[in-house]
Amino acid sequence: MTSPTSSDRQATQATRTKRLTTVDLVARADRGERITMVTAYDATFARMLDEAGVDVLLVGDSVGMVVQGHDTTLPVTMDEIIYHCRAVGRGSSRTHIVADMPFMSYQASTTDAIRNAGRCLSEGGAQSIKLEGGRSLASTIARIVDTGVPVMGHVGLTPQSVHAMGGFRVQGRTEEAADRVFEDACAVARAGAYSVVLEGIPAELAARITAEVGIPTIGIGAGPHCDGQVLVCYDLLGLTPTLRPKFVKRYAEMYTEGLAAVRQYCDEVRSGAFPAREHSFAAHPEPPVRPNVTHGTTSLGTPGYGPHR
Ligand code: KIV
Repeated sequence: MTSPTSSDRQATQATRTKRLTTVDLVARADRGERITMVTAYDATFARMLDEAGVDVLLVGDSVGMVVQGHDTTLPVTMDEIIYHCRAVGRGSSRTHIVADMPFMSYQASTTDAIRNAGRCLSEGGAQSIKLEGGRSLASTIARIVDTGVPVMGHVGLTPQSVHAMGGFRVQGRTEEAADRVFEDACAVARAGAYSVVLEGIPAELAARITAEVGIPTIGIGAGPHCDGQVLVCYDLLGLTPTLRPKFVKRYAEMYTEGLAAVRQYCDEVRSGAFPAREHSFAAHPEPPVRPNVTHGTTSLGTPGYGPHR
């Protein structure tokens, strides 16, 4: 085994001292402070979201749709989630990182579920995991929690069941369906989950669950009465031009801005306007200036003075 470098030690120290824990998140909700969660898949976005003050970064299996270009989340693998968790960990220092367990990493057996949940923490560096499912997953959640891995549940519209649901449809609209989602959320809480995502359900049902379930609820397409909210970062930033679901608020139009920027770049390369003199290195840079020497004639303000002359 190689000994840790000083940057490894600094990273470990940062994780120990700064990252929000599940205990912090539950305490926030108990104080009535809303939890902010956003998906992240790489170090640059993680850094921006961390600096903006987001509480939780979810390394979501939505990576399969917004990054990989698939129609569903189903093709995402454990190795991919771990890869993205590591990148998100390197980009952030304060946020809590939740690894989303991908399709078939926990459904086939409890042994698989425990082993893969453990990998999210030990290999991915996440602090907790999320998995989709209610009553049918309760015993699996309990076993994972018993091993010391904090679990966030996910009920209502569960995208990994897209084919069983007949599409990405709002769940819990009838009284019976609402009761089923309510029972799912309660089962997840009884199994020991520290919080639960409520996705794609009517706002009144989310309010009822939030009032009674006893753990923080984090909503997406579930109205304003949850203890926190989560959005996919690409939706929030306006990077998904063809997708405009009702529950998404776009806080920026980064796709449109990016498009204009790249068009301008293409124009300037074609016209020769880029790169300009200030983006170019000189062949014979002037030597650095030493003050108070008799043979030097240039000043410290010489353009190009620096490491990349
Ligand atoms: O993968 C994901 O982005 C999610 C959120 C939509 C909750 O599971």
